[in-house]
Amino acid sequence: MALKSVITGGAGFIGSNLTDHLVRIGHKVIVLDNFVSGKKSNLSHHKKKDVKIIKDDISNSKNLEKYFKGADYIFHLAALAEVIPSIKNPKKYFKNNVIGTLKVVEAAKKVNIKKLIYAASSSCYGNPKKFPTSEKDKIDLNNPYAATKFIGEEIIMKYADMFKMPNISFRFFNVYGPRLNISGQYSAVIGNFLSQKKNNIPLTIVGNGKQTRDFIHVDDLVSAFIKVIKSRYVNKIYNIGSGKRTSINTIASIFNGKKKFIPIRPGEPKDSLANISKLKKDINWKPKISIESGIKKLLSN
Ligand SMILES: NC(=O)c1ccc[n+]([C@@H]2O[C@H](COP(=O)([O-])OP(=O)(O)OC[C@H]3O[C@@H](n4cnc5c(N)ncnc54)[C@H](O)[C@@H]3O)[C@@H](O)[C@H]2O)c1
Repeated sequence: MALKSVITGGAGFIGSNLTDHLVRIGHKVIVLDNFVSGKKSNLSHHKKKDVKIIKDDISNSKNLEKYFKGADYIFHLAALAEVIPSIKNPKKYFKNNVIGTLKVVEAAKKVNIKKLIYAASSSCYGNPKKFPTSEKDKIDLNNPYAATKFIGEEIIMKYADMFKMPNISFRFFNVYGPRLNISGQYSAVIGNFLSQKKNNIPLTIVGNGKQTRDFIHVDDLVSAFIKVIKSRYVNKIYNIGSGKRTSINTIASIFNGKKKFIPIRPGEPKDSLANISKLKKDINWKPKISIESGIKKLLSN
């Protein structure tokens, strides 16, 4: 019988890429999404027999257990995921991301799953002092988004401890790839550059552009998901990035557009670089897509 996966937030950028891959390897997928930022069009190429879409809100739903019944895997990706709106509306973020996660894990506990994967965030390291930053390094929660994602992770890991649940948390660094959000006011740098390039306007570079980020292509992220669900590992936290840092100026050069420098924004880290040795060692995974080829592929679409 086909394996069954539920993806909360499956209509979003990462969730829809994960859906594509799971369908390709023969899973039946249930997408659970309230479409606050996710889009129907991200999934419109799928057949109903492969992907069932349920419109519901994880923080309010009374039916999570029903949706999860019979699932082999749950990928919990649903979240409000922007920093500045979280500062303006922390309560909304808390309810959505923390209460939502609590409800997901509580319902998952009642059904018999093989693994639950949680989408945590490298924002838990704040403005790190140690590079590459490992899972053991200091947690520094400097905005409500980071706090909600980290509390979500703590809940997921406590449930793994207390109830022997097969939970895994991935701390994503900067993910990019097809269907990256390019329309939002607060979208991440590659999304911004894509939309600016498309509209033929200068690429806006924050500060002097020498700040660095660890960018990981969504296909590399998905390949780690697939390896981890097949592995024997449970109750683990893993960084997931490329293990390489790239400056914003370098990204702008790959885009090859005119540049415009804009003032720095408070609360953003100067540099970010993941130590990914734990994940590499445990599941024998490594990222394959270089930032140059990943961006060139995006630009050619
Ligand atoms: N993109 C990144 O670089 C990055 C980095 C770190 C962590 N993450 C995490 O990865 C996950 C996916 O992010 P993304 O970039 O694909 O963002 P996204 O906004 O494209 O996807 C989030 C999805 O969750 C859905 N959603 C939000 N609240 C919901 C709720 N209450 N009930 C049901 N559905 C809900 C949205 O409609 C959307 O489809 C998020 O949890 C985010 O915090 C992303």
